[in-house]
Amino acid sequence: MKSNKIILIGFMGSGKTTFGKKLASKLDLPFIDSDLEISMNENKSINELFAEDGEDYFRDLESTFIQNLMKSDQDFVLSTGGGLPCFKDNMEVLNQLGTTIYLEMSPQALLKRLENGLDDRPLLKDLTENELLTYISQKLEERTPYYQKAKIIFPGINAKKGSEIDSLINRLNS
Ligand code: S3P
Repeated sequence: MKSNKIILIGFMGSGKTTFGKKLASKLDLPFIDSDLEISMNENKSINELFAEDGEDYFRDLESTFIQNLMKSDQDFVLSTGGGLPCFKDNMEVLNQLGTTIYLEMSPQALLKRLENGLDDRPLLKDLTENELLTYISQKLEERTPYYQKAKIIFPGINAKKGSEIDSLINRLNS
């Protein structure tokens, strides 16, 4: 394989963690989740970090986290928080680090997947049902230019199809 550092990016709810674990097991690589690592290092949940320390502090932690990965020669499949590629020069850093894959999904599909996962997402947890689709659509539009800098764009809808995953793996190997 060209690069043994695979980085999944995409909006909240696009399936980065589920798909990342599947990909990591198929490629026999360790799976890392940026939110989980940051939360463990700080000994706080993502909600607590946003509420007690603020979003800017969290964004600094995200940048430091990927800068540190640049110093390591460890191989991995990394799932990143939905906002991580969209702050500072993080997207450039990720593209230098390894093979970035954008899990692309429509606002409607994201809404369906997010409806049951609002409580642990500080940016969504206080929105009403009516506000949610508008928020997702606007945020996704704002973030798409960053996500589209990924080396590979993979339709999230295919993330459950074995044949599509195999063809993605072939692409990673070529
Ligand atoms: C965020 C996405 C979350 C988490 C934090 C902020 C964002 O990660 O990093 O709540 O700005 O989109 P997931 O994409 O894993 O939900």
